[in-house]
Amino acid sequence: MKVTVVGAGAVGASCAEYIAMKNFAAEVVLLDIKEGYAEGKAMDLMQTASLNGFDTKITGSTSDYSKTAGSDIAVITSGIPRKPGMTREELIGINAGIVKTVATSLIEHSPNVTIIVVSNPMDTMTYLVHKATGLPKNRIIGMGGALDSARFKYRLAQALEAPISDVDGMVIGGHSDKGMVPLIGHATRNSVKVSEFLSEDKMNWVVEETKVGGATLTGLLGTSAWYAPGAAVSGLVQAIACDQKKMFPCSSLLEGEYGLEDICIGVPVILGKNGIEKIVEIELSDAEKAKMQESAAGVKKTNGLLEF
Ligand code: NAI
Repeated sequence: MKVTVVGAGAVGASCAEYIAMKNFAAEVVLLDIKEGYAEGKAMDLMQTASLNGFDTKITGSTSDYSKTAGSDIAVITSGIPRKPGMTREELIGINAGIVKTVATSLIEHSPNVTIIVVSNPMDTMTYLVHKATGLPKNRIIGMGGALDSARFKYRLAQALEAPISDVDGMVIGGHSDKGMVPLIGHATRNSVKVSEFLSEDKMNWVVEETKVGGATLTGLLGTSAWYAPGAAVSGLVQAIACDQKKMFPCSSLLEGEYGLEDICIGVPVILGKNGIEKIVEIELSDAEKAKMQESAAGVKKTNGLLEF
């Protein structure tokens, strides 16, 4: 199993580290445009192998896509992250050009690759990869919902004063502060709906804190987060590489599911060796359906800024 991670910055390097630590991939190639940067990160990570007990070989490359040839999975994290006060949508101008070039170069050297898009605005970048490459839709996956769901569970556990492993919940919709749809009505603590334990106010707090989860960290760090994003990406990579048939909310091209078409947006999918093996249509309340439609309208507005 060969995995390429384009962008050896905060998220790319963190994701490469988690993949290596889980020890399921033979090889991870880190690629970056900054001279020597990916090579340096790869060498530093390889020097943790004997300490952390993994055998995954990590190599680095400065923009030489021949080194990525034969990749089974590629992760695109190249581009600029947001600064405090910025929205993810504001990154489109620079990131669209980068993501399009990177996706095309990856496919040239790895025609059978499955691509995971991370660069923001992620739903629009995932849609762009569809439009620019024509890869089958099961092989283009946007990562956002897996991270937002992890942040949702973190806040649920806090509100419930419960261990994280006791809580479950999912965030669907667009990967943006306004667009994400945390499914509080479906969230559980040990399989019991959280509405049994939490007041309306507490549930609203969980939803609001989840939606601004990324912005809160950007405010604290001065740039966007990397540990949880990297871990979330590594979870998707592992599910595909190990054919786990696990469900994650991912940005996927919809063709009528959830009443939506010609859009990539977060919905629950089953990930296995064929990438997105199934889009799962869960029962939504009327209020959740309305939020999903509103979220889709926001994503479509951003898609409208793309130039093909
Ligand atoms: P970063 O600035 O630390 O790393 C980005 C890297 O991309 C840099 O090392 C840069 O040299 C490289 N790069 C730029 N153009 C390139 C090109 N043409 N080819 C190869 N490499 C290139 O940024 P960070 O924090 O790693 O974030 C990366 C992206 O991921 C941002 O767009 C950010 O908004 C997004 N992100 C998305 C998340 C999600 O849930 N979907 C979560 C966190 C970040």
